[in-house]
Amino acid sequence: MKILLLGRGGQVGWELQRSLSVLGEVVALDFDASQNPQGLCGDFTDLAGLERTVEAVRPDVIVNAAAHTAVDKAESEPELARAINALAPAALARAAIKTGAWLIHYSTDYVFDGRGDMPWTEADATGPLSVYGQTKLEGEQAVALNPKHLILRTSWVYATRGGNFAKTMLRLAGERESLTVISDQFGAPTSADLLADVTAHAIRTLQTRPELAGLYHCIAAGETTWHGYAQFVLAEAAALGLPLKATADKVAPTPTSSYPTPAKRPLNSRLDTRKLQAAFGLTLPHWQAGVRRMLIEISGK
Ligand SMILES: NC(=O)c1ccc[n+]([C@@H]2O[C@H](COP(=O)([O-])OP(=O)(O)OC[C@H]3O[C@@H](n4cnc5c(N)ncnc54)[C@H](OP(=O)(O)O)[C@@H]3O)[C@@H](O)[C@H]2O)c1
Repeated sequence: MKILLLGRGGQVGWELQRSLSVLGEVVALDFDASQNPQGLCGDFTDLAGLERTVEAVRPDVIVNAAAHTAVDKAESEPELARAINALAPAALARAAIKTGAWLIHYSTDYVFDGRGDMPWTEADATGPLSVYGQTKLEGEQAVALNPKHLILRTSWVYATRGGNFAKTMLRLAGERESLTVISDQFGAPTSADLLADVTAHAIRTLQTRPELAGLYHCIAAGETTWHGYAQFVLAEAAALGLPLKATADKVAPTPTSSYPTPAKRPLNSRLDTRKLQAAFGLTLPHWQAGVRRMLIEISGK
């Protein structure tokens, strides 16, 4: 199997380089052309270059891990966000249709308006609140034009590599006696390595069961708030013996309304993952297991 991976340098892209490697030959492209094999384009603002690249590589599977993920910045650069999150996936879908390739794509809980407190299913109506959410929804719709597609909607992604919410909390708790964190947005932190492993398993399954093509929700089990997440991180860090000024009980809750941001975020980011687990025979682990593992890794214990 030949796989074309786009966005190899991102949180999920980095983990996909590992998880896809056992499936066959992986051509992993970066945004920056100088890092790619000659003539191959991984820049999502160059639509013709992307289509040319798919035709040159002739992959069996395209995995798109690239995105404009700066949610607040997207509000002031909607054209760039749309190019990367919607127009480039549309170009990939066109090229995939032409070459007969599968297209694997990631989307987000931000396609929902965040009302209520029930986990969103794949059949629920969308209603994005932000440019990021709107452009990601347009990307989903474009990708789905290729019948051979798999779209995984996920939320609150973190990875050991690069910056993330947990690392920010550890840094702040090392500097300050107390922290204030949003307590009315509900979701589940989901690790990039979990998403990459699910992707590899799903690609393998789709080769013999193409009827499973479609849209799925993929997040870790359980739920929390950013406040609960921060408290868990600090409690685990204290148990690992990391030096902290602020302990878990010194994290104060605050509502979203007290922390205005350019992009509006959904309060209810719970996603129902039963469709994915049933279709692909998977069990998604609890979010705390992945966060604990990441903390052990970054603490070097
Ligand atoms: N992060 C989250 O919390 C979250 C939540 C829900 C869904 N998702 C979705 O999950 C997927 C993976 O996200 P992630 O967390 O791995 O994101 P990420 O770490 O921000 O990675 C995105 C990648 O896209 C690259 N990129 C940006 N502009 C590009 C362009 N013009 N051409 C090509 N590549 C470009 C970035 O490169 P640079 O780093 O050089 O800019 C980066 O390598 C995305 O579809 C995202 O929408 C993420």
